[in-house]
Amino acid sequence: MKGIILAGGSGTRLYPITKGISKQLMPIYDKPMIYYPLSTLISAGVREILVITTPEDADAFRRLLGTGSDWGVMIDYAVQPKPEGLAQAFIIGEDFIGGDSVALVLGDNIFEGAGLTEILGEIRDVEGGAIFAYEVSDPQRYGVVAFDEHGTATSIEEKPAEPKSPYAVVGLYFYDNDVVDIAKTISPSERGELEITSVNEEYLRRGALRVHRLHRGDVWLDTGTIDSMSEASAYVEVIQKRTGTVIGSPEVAAYREGLISSAELASLGKAALKSGYGQYLIEAARD
Ligand code: TTP
Repeated sequence: MKGIILAGGSGTRLYPITKGISKQLMPIYDKPMIYYPLSTLISAGVREILVITTPEDADAFRRLLGTGSDWGVMIDYAVQPKPEGLAQAFIIGEDFIGGDSVALVLGDNIFEGAGLTEILGEIRDVEGGAIFAYEVSDPQRYGVVAFDEHGTATSIEEKPAEPKSPYAVVGLYFYDNDVVDIAKTISPSERGELEITSVNEEYLRRGALRVHRLHRGDVWLDTGTIDSMSEASAYVEVIQKRTGTVIGSPEVAAYREGLISSAELASLGKAALKSGYGQYLIEAARD
C-alpha cells in the first residue's frame, strides 16, 4: 500500500503565521506538524510515501524529510499548484499510486491511541474504502457520517448545516486502486474543490465503504486553527513528560515497524539531543 500526505492548502485560519511558512512545518510542541501524520502512515505499514505541498514550500519539505532513508521508507514529492481539494491528491499521485491501494492522511491531523494503533495494524491492505469516524461537539465543521441501528453507515455529508450525527470523518483514508478513477469522475463542489466526501459517497453507493468508529480513548486532533494548534502542543507536552514516551515520532514508528535498528534509532537521537527530542529516541531504543 502506498501513502500520501497532503500538506498543501492555504492555511488562512492561521494568518498571518502561514503567510510566510507552511502550516505543516509549524511546531506541535517539539516536532514539525508533518511528523505526526508521517508516523501514522509508517505505523500503518506504509513504506512509500508521496508528500504533496504547495510549489512555494516544496524545498523546505525536502530539506526537512529528505528521501526518508533515516526512517527506512521512501519519500517522494509532488506539488499541488492550487488548493483544489483533498481528492485531487489521487489525480496528482496517479503515477505514484500505480496499481496499488493507497492511504491518504492530512498533514495537519494528529492521531494517537491504543485502539487506533490496533486498527492500523490490521489495515495492511484494503478492498473498497476504509475511513474513521470520531464523535465531536461541532460536526457541522466536518464531513459527517450517519449510521443505522446496526452501525452501518447510511450517509456522508460535507459540512451539513444540520448534522444527522455527531460523527465527523477524520483525515485518514484508505482506498483500493479504484480511487484514482473515482477522483477523476467526481465534480468540484460549490466551493470549487474536489471533495473527499464525494469519493466516500461513491464508495458508500457501491456498498464498499467501511467506517470504523474511533473510541473515546483514541485521540484525533485537527490542528488547523490557532487554538487547536496550541491545545495539541499542550497535549503532546503533557503526555510526553508524564509518560516519558514520545508521540508522533517517525523514528520511533520506524523502529517499532522493524525498519531501523535500536542502534540507528539511538544515533538519530544523538543528533537531536540538545532540543530534548533526541532523549526520547534514546529511551525508546533502550526499551
Ligand atoms: P484545510 O484545513 O481544510 O485547509 P487549509 O489548510 O487550506 O486551511 P484554511 O482552511 O485555514 O485555509 O485542509 C486540510 C489539510 O489538507 C491541510 O493539511 C492542508 C491540506 N490541503 C491540501 O494540501 N490541498 C487542498 O487542496 C486542501 C483543500 C487542503
